[in-house]
Amino acid sequence: MAKRIYLCLAHMSGEEMKFIQEAFDTNWVVPLGPNVNGFEKDLEGFVNAPHDLRKRVVALSSGTAAVHLGLIAAGVKPGDEVIVQSFTFCASTHPITYCGAKPILVDSEPDTWNMDPQLMELAIKDRIRKTGRKPAAIVPVYLYGMPAKIDEIMEIADRYEIPIVEDAAEAFGSRYKGQVCGTFGDYGVLSFNGNKMITTSGGGALICPNEEEWRRVMFYATQAREAFPYYQHEKIGYNYRMSNICAGIGRGQMFVADDHVRHHRHVAKLYKEAFAGVEGIEYHDEIEGMESNFWLSTILLDEKLKAKNEDMAYATAVHKAVGGAAGVVHDTGRVHSSCEPDRNVEAMRIALDAAGVEARPLWKPMHAQPVYSRGECLVETIGDVECRTTEQSVSYVNGVSEGMFKRGLCLPSGPWVTDDDVAMVVDVIKGNIL
Ligand SMILES: Cc1ncc(COP(=O)(O)O)c(C=O)c1O
Repeated sequence: MAKRIYLCLAHMSGEEMKFIQEAFDTNWVVPLGPNVNGFEKDLEGFVNAPHDLRKRVVALSSGTAAVHLGLIAAGVKPGDEVIVQSFTFCASTHPITYCGAKPILVDSEPDTWNMDPQLMELAIKDRIRKTGRKPAAIVPVYLYGMPAKIDEIMEIADRYEIPIVEDAAEAFGSRYKGQVCGTFGDYGVLSFNGNKMITTSGGGALICPNEEEWRRVMFYATQAREAFPYYQHEKIGYNYRMSNICAGIGRGQMFVADDHVRHHRHVAKLYKEAFAGVEGIEYHDEIEGMESNFWLSTILLDEKLKAKNEDMAYATAVHKAVGGAAGVVHDTGRVHSSCEPDRNVEAMRIALDAAGVEARPLWKPMHAQPVYSRGECLVETIGDVECRTTEQSVSYVNGVSEGMFKRGLCLPSGPWVTDDDVAMVVDVIKGNIL
């Protein structure tokens, strides 16, 4: 069978089995134990360097669980509003709904594609004006590993005294002015899903500011058990702690963490060089002071670029979910939605797929997702910004993320992607430009 080139697949160091075997040999087959403790220590070493930050880390069952616990630790309660980057994967926003709070979806700036700090401040002021209360927390995201303008975001958040839960799920190993992403805010989220920079098969972690907060997060992650000789519960807790088997994989993965970051950056450099001078294709690069892990390399296709077989784009409905979704899909039978990638982008994705290359559209902004924009929508214009209010969310939209979503593609970037693979992907793209 011909080789397929995927976006980012798990890649083992070879040390993982030793830690897993040890867990079996010592019968630590539970969601706690030496591998979990060891992995947390390894992660603390990784995120605290080189500034000796003294952050503490709790290893969890997923990045989504980490977002949820981060919000709880930040004090988010039912009825609150939480500012979150709209241009992201749903795991940044859904936990806000789990908390019974409302997502306030803020659009991006064009340099990093992450939360626009000025728009964020506009949203804070507008929420205070309209509700009499400030948002309970802010969730900036590091999209595809690209550092956000976190200095500006932190300055504004500090001024309004709003806690930050940084969603660095995609940014393991990315740095802003030398400091690891996920360590700027009150809490930082990491993900170790199978497609991330390192994996525990499924898993995540929450970076906590100090020992006291670490203990509080650990308490909520382990069903909030009070100190009694029987099960006594005075708070609602969660079963979110990482399994000792998964943590064994994580400990093994730490041997290749730096190599993986280096490799993703190498692949990014190859794409950047190969697309330089290709008319109509723009490679999304880091800006000064930022060091992206380039979890996924991404490009934008100009609206004017003509791709082969554009008339075939959206010709038939797809019957599977992007990313697999364990084979469980909700088949709508529909071909179009009200906000979708341009025809040339979809034609290019199909051409890459036919050539054995996995490419994906960028995340569809959450404010354009039906789950957050159903029913009546009140639209108000504030300068160049649209404030859209629905029952499920409020969004502050400047058009940046929708523009990127319509024009963007994610390209294979993981540890299995070779120099020849990159050359082949670029050739397929160039060969499909009319
Ligand atoms: C931005 C973002 N946040 C959160 C998550 C959630 O991580 P997990 O899949 O480990 O639950 C992911 C990844 O899947 C993500 O991309």
